[in-house]
Amino acid sequence: MKQVQIDRYGVPWEVARCVDVPDVGPPADDEVVFDVLAFPINPADMWFCRGSYRLKPPLPATPGAECVGRVAAVGSAVTHVRPGDLVINLQRENWAERRKVKGDDAIPLPAGIDLKQAAMVRINPPTAQLMLSDFVDLQPGDWVIQNVANSAVGRLLIVLARQRGLRTVNVVRRADLAAELAALGADRVLVDGEDLAARTADATGGARIALGVEAIGGAATGRLAECLATDGTLVHYGSMSGEDPAVGRSHFIYRGIRLTGFMLGRFLAKRSPEQVRAIYAGLAAEVMAGRLVAPVDTVYPIDRIRDALAHADRGGRNGKILVSPGGAV
Ligand SMILES: NC(=O)c1ccc[n+]([C@@H]2O[C@H](COP(=O)([O-])OP(=O)(O)OC[C@H]3O[C@@H](n4cnc5c(N)ncnc54)[C@H](OP(=O)(O)O)[C@@H]3O)[C@@H](O)[C@H]2O)c1
Repeated sequence: MKQVQIDRYGVPWEVARCVDVPDVGPPADDEVVFDVLAFPINPADMWFCRGSYRLKPPLPATPGAECVGRVAAVGSAVTHVRPGDLVINLQRENWAERRKVKGDDAIPLPAGIDLKQAAMVRINPPTAQLMLSDFVDLQPGDWVIQNVANSAVGRLLIVLARQRGLRTVNVVRRADLAAELAALGADRVLVDGEDLAARTADATGGARIALGVEAIGGAATGRLAECLATDGTLVHYGSMSGEDPAVGRSHFIYRGIRLTGFMLGRFLAKRSPEQVRAIYAGLAAEVMAGRLVAPVDTVYPIDRIRDALAHADRGGRNGKILVSPGGAV
């Protein structure tokens, strides 16, 4: 079977290659074997290839934080999925034609779900959902501010916030996105810059903003902190700039801003397997209903992984880059 491997850390499209490896073999009693139908290339996968992600396993290593697959075989003790079912996998190393995982790591998805969207259900939708639920007790009408609003997470957050009656200030780096994000449900769209706090106050009529979520780092984190009300919470969940958050101390001392962080695995680990399955069942239902959609730019075959990675690194894309190992997508 085919599998993507990196045998050194470096520029993703130079270090990744598609290799032939032995098949995964039959499942043990508590295991599930599935064929990988599609996987997206996420920013965290790029950092994994570069060796700058929090996980840096011995080489050669296989990237891939998420995928969608179809179950090929299950062990005798596995009862919650059957051959033919669609699943997502809570574990990594998914850039391959086939995976063998523990039963509890295979989360079933409804038959008939759009496979491209299903490939992106595992990480970004619960990230957007839990950042809105786990930090501040938000009520309908409350405001939330976020940057990278055009990212997959950002777009999902706009939709999920609107469903809860929350209002969003969406900070982007390209002004031409305003109409598109407004159509999704964004209440305000602002271009990032030095006077962001003043423009936010103007745009919201000086509303109290108790929650900010941000994934740029560096001075951009400080700009978002400045937009928050006294005692507001700023959640840092990624660093598209590669820089650590830079927030002036006055925000902490004089205004009581709380800077904290989010990592999906840490927040799912606070929940039982049943609660985790319920979260994904709810999100999958939203995808099935067409209410949660992450745009897809291009789908590549697995043996063109290098082209796919180079494309994923380019700015100005109209959505995610996906890879479909068996060509099902
Ligand atoms: N902590 C967690 O558990 C968790 C889970 C999921 C995602 N994340 C993080 O969330 C972030 C977004 O992920 P995604 O999959 O939604 O990303 P994505 O769809 O690939 O979008 C990336 C976004 O980042 C923007 N961007 C890229 N470089 C930038 C820079 N230097 N300055 C400002 N903006 C920049 C892009 O802007 P343009 O649209 O203008 O190109 C785009 O909107 C990433 O940092 C990712 O690691 C974290």
